[in-house]
Amino acid sequence: MSIIEKAAGKLSAPPARAETEPQARESLIEGAVRRSREIPAASAPPVEDPATIWGAASEAEGHARSQVQQVNMARLSHMGYITPENEKGQAAEEFRIIKRPLIANAFGLGTARVKNGNLIMVTSALPGEGKTYCAINLAISMAMEMERTVLLVDADVARPRVPEYLGLQADRGLLDVLRDKDLHLSDLLIRTDIAKLTVLPAGRTYKRATELLASSAMTQLVEDIGNRYPDRIIVFDSPPLLATSEASVLASHMGQIVLVVESERTPQEAVREAINHIQSCEVVGLLLNKATPMPGSDYYYGYYGSYGK
Ligand SMILES: Nc1ncnc2c1ncn2[C@@H]1O[C@H](COP(=O)(O)OP(=O)(O)O)[C@@H](O)[C@H]1O
Ligand SMILES: [Mg+2]
Repeated sequence: MSIIEKAAGKLSAPPARAETEPQARESLIEGAVRRSREIPAASAPPVEDPATIWGAASEAEGHARSQVQQVNMARLSHMGYITPENEKGQAAEEFRIIKRPLIANAFGLGTARVKNGNLIMVTSALPGEGKTYCAINLAISMAMEMERTVLLVDADVARPRVPEYLGLQADRGLLDVLRDKDLHLSDLLIRTDIAKLTVLPAGRTYKRATELLASSAMTQLVEDIGNRYPDRIIVFDSPPLLATSEASVLASHMGQIVLVVESERTPQEAVREAINHIQSCEVVGLLLNKATPMPGSDYYYGYYGSYGK
């Protein structure tokens, strides 16, 4: 049985033990999928003013003002991405299912709160499997839920695609803030016209950019963001795990990881090896991307489930 088949099996199998047991953590995603229907809307945090989000978090940063840009909705929609206009479309429906357990784990809604669960990395074994596609859709889907403020970080610094796909003009970003201590994160953020979606571009790239992902400056930045915004979701688009060791270091800071697997293309061995690289993360969900729809099934993505550690 393949890892993905196992994950799919786990999703449909009845819970093996009480959900509150610590050892049930490996099946949090499957449990959360099931429980997501029970999450009361009233338990969400209060709505914030989008103008102040991610902006100045202290007096010292009081001068900071992030830019606002328009997302190219027509292009996004044409490419099959979620937009506020097609929130009833197929992709929107699928990502609604995918985001539920992630949100539940992040904020302890109907399940145990996962440590750093609001830090979510979208990764894959190989390039081209759909990391950026899934990271963007996940971020938009979460942002469209009124209560959730989302920061989408383009951490695939060698091949940044987030601004291009969204149709945003990006200049400085993650790499710049990692290299220059005088820069303020809040100055580099791009607020978008998708309410509650803010983007941190990868920044100006250079030859050994990826190495910065494993630097102490990156560790510090991720910790700062996580501590400062515990009630917000931060989605990291990332490099492929098997292409660069730094992606695994980045993974070690995350509370949850979505491992995108391209259907009928990624070798099982590559998926296994990728999973070995992210052992440090407590919650890993597999997302089967670009799957051929099964007759009579609503699922384009096929399966989404945790693998048993
Ligand atoms: N499920 C999908 N449906 C439609 N297009 C997709 C899907 N997944 C990926 N793509 C497209 O495939 C291309 C490669 O995906 P991308 O997210 O850039 O891969 P990665 O970030 O893993 O390198 C992009 O043009 C993306 O929009
Ligand atoms: Mg990408």
